[in-house]
Amino acid sequence: MFYSDDIIEEIRSRNDIVDVISGYVKLQKKGSSYFGLCPFHNEKSPSFSVSQTKQMYYCFGCGAGGNVITFIMEYENYSFQEAIKYLADRCGMSLPKADENEVSKKQQSERKILLDIQKTAAKYYYYLLGQPQGKQGLNYLTGRGLSKETITRFGLGYSSKFGNDLYKYLKSKGYSDALLKESGLITFDERKGAYDKFWNRVMYPIMDVNNRVIGFGGRVMGDGTPKYLNSPETKIFDKSRNLYGLNFARISRKPYFIICEGYMDVISMHQAGFTNAIASLGTAFTSPHASLIKRYVDEVYLAYDSDGAGIKAALRAIPILKSAGLKIKIIHMDPYKDPDEFIKNLGRDAFEERIGKAENSFLFEISVLEKSYDLNDPQGKTDFFNAAAKKMLEFNQELERNNYIEAICRRYGIDFKDMQKLVNSYGARIGYVEKSDPERAFEPAKSIKKPVKEEGILTCQKLLLTWLVEDPSLFPKVEKYISYEDFLDPVYQKAAKLLFDEYNRTGKVTPARIMNQFEDKEEHNIVASLFNTNLYDSTDKNAKEKALNEAVIKIKKHSIDHISKNAKDIQTLQAVVKARASLQTLHISL
Ligand code: UTP
Ligand code: MN
Repeated sequence: MFYSDDIIEEIRSRNDIVDVISGYVKLQKKGSSYFGLCPFHNEKSPSFSVSQTKQMYYCFGCGAGGNVITFIMEYENYSFQEAIKYLADRCGMSLPKADENEVSKKQQSERKILLDIQKTAAKYYYYLLGQPQGKQGLNYLTGRGLSKETITRFGLGYSSKFGNDLYKYLKSKGYSDALLKESGLITFDERKGAYDKFWNRVMYPIMDVNNRVIGFGGRVMGDGTPKYLNSPETKIFDKSRNLYGLNFARISRKPYFIICEGYMDVISMHQAGFTNAIASLGTAFTSPHASLIKRYVDEVYLAYDSDGAGIKAALRAIPILKSAGLKIKIIHMDPYKDPDEFIKNLGRDAFEERIGKAENSFLFEISVLEKSYDLNDPQGKTDFFNAAAKKMLEFNQELERNNYIEAICRRYGIDFKDMQKLVNSYGARIGYVEKSDPERAFEPAKSIKKPVKEEGILTCQKLLLTWLVEDPSLFPKVEKYISYEDFLDPVYQKAAKLLFDEYNRTGKVTPARIMNQFEDKEEHNIVASLFNTNLYDSTDKNAKEKALNEAVIKIKKHSIDHISKNAKDIQTLQAVVKARASLQTLHISL
């Protein structure tokens, strides 16, 4: 951490969470908490809660949660450091320049220098493009229909023919060999010395959402191979957490993004006014990409190449996007290969039309499936309908499933009832049960739901931690039986340790402060869920006491079981036996 714990805590406590979030979300007081529509997922009724006493927020719908720092990180898409700066500003605190922690200071400044190197290189490539030696590069780009404005907007450039031109330039700016090596732009070789990774290529700087250059793609001007070279991943360049064009797309104010395959597609699309186009960075589409997109939009249109590889890539991306909760449509580019060619040939309006005609992703998958069957053959046709029926089980909701059955039946001229029967027979066969509740009709039967036990124990742990936070007088009673080591999950354990420690040191707990010890946003969400579980809202003391005891016993038993499973010596086993025996008499009274 760049700033000391005390400073971070002071900044956190000086920014009241209800105040801060009220600036972004309309909140209404309900009981001891405030509620509003969650800004991190789409919802119609409020499940986003903000607690003034805990100084935390938590969404019961999507699980987003944390303290005021997390909120600013998530909402503004800031890093931890950036959020701290923002909040310090907000409460009029000036931040010290220096920092006690040398290691992270070094890391921090290393990242800064790496970003600096990328920026310096980008400027240099851009400069070369305008020089006589960059003429070929400029001709190549303008020859592909790119305007001066587009070239400037995307910061396109040219890397020189000389193998160590950039190296010499960066050295003249004083960067060390060690950091140049880390930048991925320079390769060091024992015999050849230092040479540039990119030479004689047109250069596409890759920017993060905050418009900082983090890497490059470089294209040969013509038919050489490899067609594109890409920067390797570095401390500042994570290919699965960045997308080409996202820095522009995120402010495009369109309710959906258009995902293309290539850099050139994105650039052509933006030039034609589709500033919501993005692409992955020469890698396959991953679920971190999908979550990243979901922060900004709920729907995506796939504009992948119309060839076999493009279709395959689309089929791979669809389930990934779906599981992030995105709606997906497919834009057909035929008879052209990709958006770049399409727009060049038919223009912007024709593409707009194709967006309007984009195909539902499920129906697209069915069309692809159809191609592997011979529908003129009765057997082929039967097999295809069976495969389609099986696929229909993806939909849990009966109404939705029926809508798809209807669409398929219409397309292939078959009877709705026949198809529905077929789908239901598959549903029954793979262990799904039909229940009267239409929402849950195709939920897996209880017997095949395995993770229930795991989840049960985590729920108990959350319950206990929330309970302790809301009523710290329970600590002495609970601590007789439970220690932080009984929480096996590393994040749970760390949070529990901090909580117990703080109570023992000060006699009170500040969950929002504990949150400062976690830097990762996903971890913030988990920790928030630990302290914001829905407690049993009963005034019946006996019922409460029973629930508490049940939770404590379950947690302890789970922990003993774990120790017993991993026990390697007799002492440990003896301790396990003793611990088990003491479970019999465990009782906490309220
Ligand atoms: P394409 O070959 O479709 O690229 O590859 P493109 O952007 O349409 O290129 P042009 O129009 O021929 O100039 C799609 C993407 O796959 C990655 C790049 O990110 C490219 O944009 N790729 C492709 C590579 O990383 N290396 C390669 O050699 C080829
Ligand atoms: Mn192309």
